[in-house]
Amino acid sequence: MAAKGSYCGFSSLEIAFIVLFVLMTGVSVGLITLLAVSWNNEKPSDPTENPLESTYVVGVGRADCTGPVAQVPLMGYANFEQTAAGIHTRLFSRAFIVDDGTRRVVFVSADIGMVSQRLRLEVMKELQLKYGNLYRQDNVVLSGTHTHSGPAGYFQYTLFMITSMGYIKPSIQALVNGIVKSIDNAHHNLIPGRIFINKGQLDHSNLNRSPYSYLNNPPEERKEYQSNTDKQLVVMKLTDLDGVGIGMLSWFAVHPVSMNNTNQMVSSDNMGYASYLFEKEKNIGFLPGQGPFVAAFSSSNLGDVTPNTKGPRCLNTGESCENLNSSCPIGGREMCVAFGPGLDMFESTKIIGENIYKKARELYSRARQEVNGPLSAAHQWVNMTDVTVQFNKTHTGRTCKPALGYSFAGGTIDGGGALNFTQGTVEGDPFWDGVRDALLGAPSNETQACHHPKPILFSTGEMTKPFPWHPDIVDVQIISIGNFAIVAFPGEVTTMAGRRLREAVKKELETRFYNQEVVIAGLCNVYTHYITTYEEYQIQRYEGASTIYGPHSLSAYIQLFSGLARAIAEDKVSELPQGPEPPFFTNLFSLLPLVPVDKNPGNTSFGEVLEQARLSYRAGEVVTVTFVSGNPRNSGDTAGKTFLTVEKYENLTQTWNIVYTDASWETRFHWIKGSGAESNATVEWHIPLSAPSGAYRVRHFGHFKERKGLSQVITPYNGTSSVFEVFG
Ligand SMILES: *[C@@H]1O[C@H](CO)[C@@H](O)[C@H](O)[C@H]1NC(C)=O
Ligand SMILES: *[C@@H]1O[C@H](CO)[C@@H](O)[C@H](O)[C@H]1NC(C)=O
Ligand SMILES: *[C@@H]1O[C@H](CO)[C@@H](O)[C@H](O)[C@H]1NC(C)=O
Ligand SMILES: *[C@@H]1O[C@H](CO)[C@@H](O)[C@H](O)[C@H]1NC(C)=O
Ligand SMILES: *[C@@H]1O[C@H](CO)[C@@H](O)[C@H](O)[C@H]1NC(C)=O
Ligand SMILES: *[C@@H]1O[C@H](CO)[C@@H](O)[C@H](O)[C@H]1NC(C)=O
Ligand SMILES: *[C@@H]1O[C@H](CO)[C@@H](O)[C@H](O)[C@H]1NC(C)=O
Ligand SMILES: *[C@@H]1O[C@H](CO)[C@@H](O)[C@H](O)[C@H]1NC(C)=O
Ligand SMILES: *[C@@H]1O[C@H](CO)[C@@H](O)[C@H](O)[C@H]1NC(C)=O
Repeated sequence: MAAKGSYCGFSSLEIAFIVLFVLMTGVSVGLITLLAVSWNNEKPSDPTENPLESTYVVGVGRADCTGPVAQVPLMGYANFEQTAAGIHTRLFSRAFIVDDGTRRVVFVSADIGMVSQRLRLEVMKELQLKYGNLYRQDNVVLSGTHTHSGPAGYFQYTLFMITSMGYIKPSIQALVNGIVKSIDNAHHNLIPGRIFINKGQLDHSNLNRSPYSYLNNPPEERKEYQSNTDKQLVVMKLTDLDGVGIGMLSWFAVHPVSMNNTNQMVSSDNMGYASYLFEKEKNIGFLPGQGPFVAAFSSSNLGDVTPNTKGPRCLNTGESCENLNSSCPIGGREMCVAFGPGLDMFESTKIIGENIYKKARELYSRARQEVNGPLSAAHQWVNMTDVTVQFNKTHTGRTCKPALGYSFAGGTIDGGGALNFTQGTVEGDPFWDGVRDALLGAPSNETQACHHPKPILFSTGEMTKPFPWHPDIVDVQIISIGNFAIVAFPGEVTTMAGRRLREAVKKELETRFYNQEVVIAGLCNVYTHYITTYEEYQIQRYEGASTIYGPHSLSAYIQLFSGLARAIAEDKVSELPQGPEPPFFTNLFSLLPLVPVDKNPGNTSFGEVLEQARLSYRAGEVVTVTFVSGNPRNSGDTAGKTFLTVEKYENLTQTWNIVYTDASWETRFHWIKGSGAESNATVEWHIPLSAPSGAYRVRHFGHFKERKGLSQVITPYNGTSSVFEVFG
């Protein structure tokens, strides 16, 4: 299978599809100071002193948001061949609520590629129905971890709908349900509590994938930082009044692309695995995805940051392809792929996830700096195509209508690219310009000039059929808890761009708060691809080509977020104009085929074992059992359920106890579709070395569709392997 795009570049298949699609659709082209704020001349208090003075009400909640695990494209690499076919780990939404008696803020981190405008609008509608005015645009932040292995289909702009096979109701419904339920759970768990923060450096877990862009930033600015990626991991610890932990929320800058674009199992990737480990340690005796302690690992300024720490190498020769175009002497761009640190993608996911988890655990256990002070929430909608940046008295800059450059189709070293596009392209190609002009329409001179030096491949801001191809309206938002501020960023901001934004926001907030801490939360609220610095933009690597509002995007965001921060500092958030409301499109299309009636091979029944387990295994080995299966999409919303169990026989109680589910790292559920409507479910259990000896069995649960008279009926089934022994 050839390496395909990333969100992301496109393969020739995708380009052909877009062209076809375009042709078919006929396009020619305030703060109430509740607690005494006396920070300015006080050192941070010891948490053991005055515990009641710094009391909040806090709540944490988690809910399954996995969605359909078959046939739906996975969101991230924009690779049509990468459709869901099973589960590696389940996806969860994790919610954190803080209330100071007057105000309330909510932060949600979900195991998804990004939060889309459509998803946010649907979640907000649901919250409004349930809670009235309690959870609102301004005080709820929704952030995606940026896993590239979650089901797509929750977008309303054409470009994303094309790579998602449209608007897929079961996908978005599972996300809306999961996110809202995680907030419900946090809401019902609210208790008086305390908040501590801590931060530290995590090495060997990320790498800059566009160092040539980074190097174009001013040397005096680069000198202020030790590395071309942010190594800091920021941890927020939530406890009850006695200091007993109830949750952990953290931020670290790395792309969850340890699972590469050949993976077809739904997976929460490295950040999800860190959550899995943290929660497993805290929720002893619970299955994964259950138990009261919630640990979230949120995305940050990961725009130019890969977890594939062995760096880019040529697949054919093994030599480094760390060059301006990420291109190999033989084979070009397609041969240049980043790997590591493990031997395969599972091991890489495990290593990066474990590193992040271990660091967070250490920081969590030593978190002493208590956060106190009032809450604040500032939110605005902005027409991002139309922002004037005031550099100084005489100079201004402007944002542009959205457009993607040539290097967008070049993809990244984490996967991707199409045809002969490479990164670092600053000149259009007559051939492709011609193709573009003939099929999609030429970009206007104004848009071309605005995006300079980006050669435009898709002038998405000028493409409106059947729906606009990219959003105009974006959310900018900051929530703050005392002197801890969370910048909710609507896209993927690069390392240096994130640092500039963080410093700018900090500067505003420092006028009011002592010891101000600012984190950037990535992939929040609406997806707008990448945001680089002006200098990085000039290099037109993938990230620059994907900075859709043009070279001054970052400056515009700094201006906007500084405005929000100033409003918080001056206690004037209620005076912020709300801005233009985003559209909510109706009659979105779906290209996902309906599920046909399932077929079972002659003589078999659904759930029957086709390939049996062996009689015995040693710890470290893999149990594999294959069942006759129905299409997993027939199972509908599987939140809180499982397609498999691994069960251990307990002699004492003479019962079968579930020890693993499909949410477990140790299990893999593969759905294998044959020709026609026959399919198999293969369950793997990678027996950990710690597994106790004993008798085990594997079960599979599903639903099949059959025709009964004129109607189609969906029936549950299950199957069970023979009993096997494990010797620990
Ligand atoms: C790579 O970049 C260099 C410098 O811009 C350019 O001369 C060269 O043609 C590029 N190579 C490819 C394959 O695009
Ligand atoms: C993805 O990882 C697998 C190993 O797990 C490897 O065989 C494959 O070449 C990788 N593909 C890409 C495009 O990185
Ligand atoms: C955004 O601003 C541009 C330029 O003023 C305008 O043409 C466009 O209609 C606006 N978009 C929306 C969704 O209001
Ligand atoms: C204003 O900003 C522009 C662009 O950043 C810069 O070239 C110019 O020197 C600045 N002028 C002053 C007076 O600072
Ligand atoms: C890319 O391929 C097209 C069609 O084969 C060709 O006309 C064009 O010159 C190529 N561009 C580059 C930069 O190699
Ligand atoms: C765009 O610019 C080109 C060359 O500068 C000019 O020939 C053309 O007429 C312009 N197009 C429009 C629509 O103004
Ligand atoms: C069905 O099962 C019977 C008895 O086990 C066997 O003789 C026959 O060959 C099987 N038919 C098929 C189509 O597998
Ligand atoms: C299911 O598994 C059986 C037994 O290994 C195999 O013969 C059959 O081809 C598989 N069917 C599909 C659809 O993969
Ligand atoms: C498994 O299927 C059998 C037969 O349909 C049914 O009686 C049983 O309740 C199912 N078990 C579970 C745990 O769903």
